[in-house]
This record gives sequence, C-alpha cells and structure tokens, in this order.
Amino acid sequence: MSELFVKIKDKQRGPYSSKELRELVHNGDFGAHDYVYDNDRQQWVRAGQSEHIQSLFEKSFIPEHQRTVFAVGGGKGGVGKTSLTASIGIALAALGYEVVIVDADLGGANLHTCMGILEPEKTFYDFYTLQCEALEDILLETPVENLRLISGACGTLGLANPRYTQKLRFISELKKIAADFIILDLGAGASYNVIDFFVAAEQGIVVTTPEPMAIQETFNFIKISLFRKLLRLFRDKPAVLTLIEKYALSSPGRMNSSMDEVLADVRRLDVEASSRMEGVLDKFRPKLILNMVHSHNETREGAALRTAVEELLAINMDYLGYVEYDDSVRKAVKELKPFIIANPKSRASRSVAQLVSVSLLGKNGWKGLRERKKMIRNIRSDASEYPQNSFPESDVICSVKCFYWGDCDYQNGGHPCPVRHLDPIFRKQS
Ligand SMILES: Nc1ncnc2c1ncn2[C@@H]1O[C@H](COP(=O)(O)OP(=O)(O)OP(=O)(O)O)[C@@H](O)[C@H]1O
Ligand SMILES: [Mg+2]
Repeated sequence: MSELFVKIKDKQRGPYSSKELRELVHNGDFGAHDYVYDNDRQQWVRAGQSEHIQSLFEKSFIPEHQRTVFAVGGGKGGVGKTSLTASIGIALAALGYEVVIVDADLGGANLHTCMGILEPEKTFYDFYTLQCEALEDILLETPVENLRLISGACGTLGLANPRYTQKLRFISELKKIAADFIILDLGAGASYNVIDFFVAAEQGIVVTTPEPMAIQETFNFIKISLFRKLLRLFRDKPAVLTLIEKYALSSPGRMNSSMDEVLADVRRLDVEASSRMEGVLDKFRPKLILNMVHSHNETREGAALRTAVEELLAINMDYLGYVEYDDSVRKAVKELKPFIIANPKSRASRSVAQLVSVSLLGKNGWKGLRERKKMIRNIRSDASEYPQNSFPESDVICSVKCFYWGDCDYQNGGHPCPVRHLDPIFRKQS
C-alpha cells in the first residue's frame, strides 16, 4: 500500500504510511467512517469500504496484556523452523496484522538471510550488550508490509549463555512491542538456551518432519520443556524438586514413567504442589506442525506423536496441520526469499495459508476462504515489490571450499552462508 491521504472531519491530512494510519486507528483518531483517497478510482471513499485499508478496522488492536508470543522450536535441526517462521509471519501480516519475527537462535542466526536482509543494521547483540536500551530500537523494517524483524546476533559466533531471568526479561520486553503477533524462531537442539524461550513464550509451536528420528527428538524436546517448567515452578519446595528431578534425569531420551505417575508421587508428598502441577499440565499445550510431508500417509506420524505426548506427558497438543515437501521452498532459500513470497501459489505456501487462517486464527468455511484469498492477493503484491537479491553463489554457498569447513558453527553445506559478511574467510573460486 502506498502512502495515502485521508479526510478527518472534513480536513485533509497525510500522506500517511500504513503504519501511521494504523497508529491513528489505534489512537481512535481515524475511523471507518472517515474518508481516504482511493488512488485507483481517483475519489474519496469511506475508509471502511476501501479494500486497501479496511483490514485496519476488522480487528481490534491487541492490548499488551493479551499479546501472544509464539516460539517455534522442535529439537531437530533443519526441519524448517526458520522457513516457517518467516512464511507464517508473512501470512499473518498479509491479513493486516502487525507482526514481528524474532531470531532467537543464539548460535546460528539466519532469519534475516531468509528474509533477504544480508547485513542487518542492528541485531539482538546490540540489545544484549546494552548498546540499545529498548527492543523497539533494534526492530528492522522488512520488504513485507506490516512485518518487522529482530535479527539475531549473527557473525559473533553466538552469544554467551543468557541467564533464565534475562530470557524472561527478553520475552516480557517483547510483549511491549506494539504488534499483534510476535514469533520467535528458535535454534535447533534442546539446550536451555532454546528450551527457556520455548517455555517462556505463551504459545509453543513444535515443527518436525515425519521421520522417526525427528519425531523422537520432538517428543524429547516437549518432555524436556515440560520438566524445565516444573523444575522452575517448585524452586520453593526442595523435596518436590528433588522428586521431579529424579524423574527428569532418570531417563534422558526416554520416558519410563508417565507424567501421571510423577503427579501421583508428588501428590503423596505434597497435595498443594500436586494441584500446582496439575495447573501446569492443563496449561502447557504445544502446537504441532508437520513439515516436509511427502504423502498423506505420513501425516499419521503427527497423530502418533500427539497420542504419545498426551499419554506419556499428560498434556494436550494441538495439531495445526502439515506442510508438504516442496522443491520450491529450497529454491526460495537460494533466491533469498521466504517461500511464501517466492511462490505464493506453491503447495507449501497454500498449506501455510490454510494453517494460519484455519488452525491459528480459527477462520473456517467461507470466511476462511475469503481471508485466504485476501492473504494471497496481498502476498502477491508484496512479492511483486520484493527485492531481487540472490547470493553470489561462487562466494557464499556453504561448501568444502570454505576455509572454515569442518570448523564452523554455522556449517550447512549447500545452503547460503549466514555469516557471509565475513567474506575474506571464503576462498574465491577460480
Ligand atoms: N516444506 C519444505 N519442503 C522442502 N524443503 C523445505 C521445506 N521446509 C524447509 N525446507 C528446507 O529445509 C532446509 C532447512 O530449513 P530451515 O533452515 O527453515 O530449518 P531450521 O529448522 O530452521 O534449521 P535449524 O535447526 O538449522 O535452524 C532449507 O533448505 C529449507 O529450504
Ligand atoms: Mg533455523
């Protein structure tokens, strides 16, 4: 949407960017009954009837205490967390929501690369080292309308391990950002640097592929997250803590006793603690996305994982849906575009559109269909203006030709190098 003129109480104002208009709506200074100049029709129309800005009035701005932070994790590396974070963020932004995507991969930040931003001006590192006081100061605009980015600390070979309280502070600072959706892209693995963000965000989304190893790692990831949450909860009750620790540590990678048994044990020891624990089990409700699905049969793996989580961990899991394996996703990475931008009509993009409108936003039936059409229309308009930005392949695709091959935290052969601005480390190809 280009800059627009509006008429408020017969006074012409502007031009305003969409962000400024949104702010006006938010502050109650501009409403659906005011006028906006429609550049196509070359006339003033009611703001609520302008297809360009009516979405500003379709939903209320989400107040701070209701803002939800989503964290996208899952344990296994390379399952599509970053690609999905970007594309889900874009899908939500295309519906008019203000979205911030955040690279919380402390060791291998690459969300900015996925968005085609090669050298982010500011990163999480600036906030962490107090060079910027507020997260607002490190927010970067992206080529997509309504979508902003907090880039991870790339090129510093990771940050020192932040403490639990620092991670909590980060999440609560995030919630102060005026946005409807904040989505964190987490790193691979189940270290506390990853788990703590997953636990601290209100909504955890786990991404897995249908392969048994990935499913196993995802189960583990959820299990470790749940135990971490419980262990933080009972810091004031050493006896309960010791009991839960015994279960948490007794079977790494497996679950010998179900969470129901753990709960029964806790109840025998301390009734008040057991009802606190029940509260956590009721609330802790990860969402699942199955990615890179080749055939419908494979979606059964999602159902199997859900059953295992429900029976062994005594928590519910919402299945958001699956995204098909699609070569265009890999192609998009090379073009430095999120796949939903590179090809809004691909199978993977359509899966994401469905997943966002139906499963995340609960828009079913004709309403869902209308929303998806609008979403795709807006994404196509973003796509038409998206910078063409491809890697100079000879220099920066990760390969054995790199000087640091075998000794690099970011090694991911065949994929663009996330620390490409350290160019001198690459041997030039002859
Ligand atoms: N649906 C899909 N179909 C085909 N390829 C996919 C799909 N989703 C992701 N990929 C590809 O998988 C690779 C890894 O994706 P991505 O970087 O998003 O994973 P990740 O989980 O964030 O990895 P990491 O754990 O290293 O952060 C990329 O090359 C991406 O293009
Ligand atoms: Mg990633």
